[in-house]
Amino acid sequence: MQTDLRGRDMITTQEWTKEEIETVLDVAWDLKRKRALGEPHALLRDKVLGMLFFFSSTRTRVSFESGMAQLGGHAQFIESQTTQISHGDTAKEIGEIIGRYTDGIAIRQCDWGIGNQYIREVAEASRVPVLNMQCDIYHPFQILADLMTIMEKFGRDLKGKTINVSWAYASSYQKPISVPQSLILLMTRFGMNVRLTHPEEYKLMPDIVQQAQDNAKKHGGSFEILDDFDAGFKDADIVYPKSWGALLTTTDNAESAAIGKKYTDWITDSRRMSLAKPEAIYMHCLPADRNIEVTDDVVDGPQSVVYDEAENRLHVQKAVMALTMR
Ligand code: CP
Repeated sequence: MQTDLRGRDMITTQEWTKEEIETVLDVAWDLKRKRALGEPHALLRDKVLGMLFFFSSTRTRVSFESGMAQLGGHAQFIESQTTQISHGDTAKEIGEIIGRYTDGIAIRQCDWGIGNQYIREVAEASRVPVLNMQCDIYHPFQILADLMTIMEKFGRDLKGKTINVSWAYASSYQKPISVPQSLILLMTRFGMNVRLTHPEEYKLMPDIVQQAQDNAKKHGGSFEILDDFDAGFKDADIVYPKSWGALLTTTDNAESAAIGKKYTDWITDSRRMSLAKPEAIYMHCLPADRNIEVTDDVVDGPQSVVYDEAENRLHVQKAVMALTMR
């Protein structure tokens, strides 16, 4: 267990050691138990988290805000449109100034080619920890919650378990690639057999794929890339099919939408679920395009753990805040 995490940024799990991530999980389970028993745990009394959103959110906003209240502190909801950012406040100024008012800065900035760089510039200037609430490259708190959920279902030793991280069709918008990228980076560090399944146009960033390959080699798991939706499900223990944009192929929304139309049959339904192991779990970070990305009977069915994933956002975020913002 690592106890010296005060002041650390959480921008990607890849920058935290495996032991540090295990510490986050240990603390998250402790805080989850305390909340279930009604035990007070005001570990961040009088502390303030500034939450800066450039994009909308349901789970992230509510879980961070609730988490800070449960820890005895306060979270400020700041929408970028209501600030002076469009009139000139730079990332450096945001880091310097909000860092002087608060004890932590959390940011969601998903603009392709901009988000991660923006968060890193704020972090560089900030005297307090910076927490990535999702950028164009990573969604670390989602993936920590996912790992916590998988361990709750299968136990902490995940060696030999197969997870299928798959693209799926959606029509609502070109979703970021941060979730599949973060999944392949973290799950390959826990000895799992990680499958990445997508049509050729939906490639992830080559350096992220390389890091996932290196992680698998180092931690005794495997990493493979498939292009057949059904094959990805075959005998998997965990299936995580979700949509993302063809951002490595085109940044044009209309072109990306047209590419997606070729793959409208990439929908998770009960037939696909029957290809996985009988005890397999279905995961999705939500929101999902119901009956386009996944059928109602699967997302609401007995194999779905989507609400446990959503709940665990609260617990892992509280753990990271308690460890870094003390
Ligand atoms: N999964 C997730 O990050 O949800 P929100 O976009 O609603 O925060």
